[in-house]
Amino acid sequence: MPSMLDGLQLRALLPAGGLADEVHFYESIGSTNDRAKELAEAGAPEGTLVVADEQTAGRGRGGRTWFTPPGAGLAFSVVLRSQHHPSEMQSVWTALGALATREGLLELGAAAEIKWPNDVLVDGRKVAGVLAEAAWRDEALAYVVIGIGVNVHPGSVPGPKTLDYPAECVDTVVGRRVDRAELLAGILGALNRWHRSFRLGEILTAWEAALAFRGEEVHVEGEGRAWRGRLSGLGPRGELRLRLENGDSLLLQGAMHLRPVDSGPV
Ligand code: BTN
Repeated sequence: MPSMLDGLQLRALLPAGGLADEVHFYESIGSTNDRAKELAEAGAPEGTLVVADEQTAGRGRGGRTWFTPPGAGLAFSVVLRSQHHPSEMQSVWTALGALATREGLLELGAAAEIKWPNDVLVDGRKVAGVLAEAAWRDEALAYVVIGIGVNVHPGSVPGPKTLDYPAECVDTVVGRRVDRAELLAGILGALNRWHRSFRLGEILTAWEAALAFRGEEVHVEGEGRAWRGRLSGLGPRGELRLRLENGDSLLLQGAMHLRPVDSGPV
């Protein structure tokens, strides 16, 4: 299938002054996050965008791989050199990426929700994931790379053996073939708005309102432990708030893996 994504088309579609002032497009690359980090280390400005039609070493959270075969998905990374560096909420970058992806999908008519912290679901199936990586110098934020991968066409959905969570593609959930560049423009527009306004309180409120499985029983596993409880919302630093059976409230953060109890054991 020919790639419907190319650098020229992207430059024409993405507005100037947004988050794509410098576009690096690759037919095939290892990982757009790795490339964006290299560019950032070499001094690339805020708003540098790396997009690839195919990734051969796409990375997900927790060391997992992210599948990006040619012509089927959306894989991109944006460099931010933010004056904002909220050390009190380091997961804010993941939240911005997930909120923006959700909004880009909403524009297409897909009722997207965020599975804390970084997955974007439609009808309980994962269509996108966010991998945000920050680099610090002397306790100041040097740059952040926000990497986003979206399953757009059916060929982008990994086979069942490699899945860690049920997945679907955007075409299927919206019932038509979606233009990848259009979706990219929608997500970048939303990311730009969130990043420009950057109010932690608003980000937290929107993130919490968008949470999948809120009020439902979930399993959470991480750091060698497991919990079961009702997902009641977020803590002040973007932690996951669980209400345990004994009535206690627990705040969890870090490398946690969440799934609804309905889906069976973790
Ligand atoms: C996850 O679901 O665990 C996060 C997946 C993030 C994948 C994107 S694709 C673009 C960017 N480049 C990468 O190597 N990873 C992110």
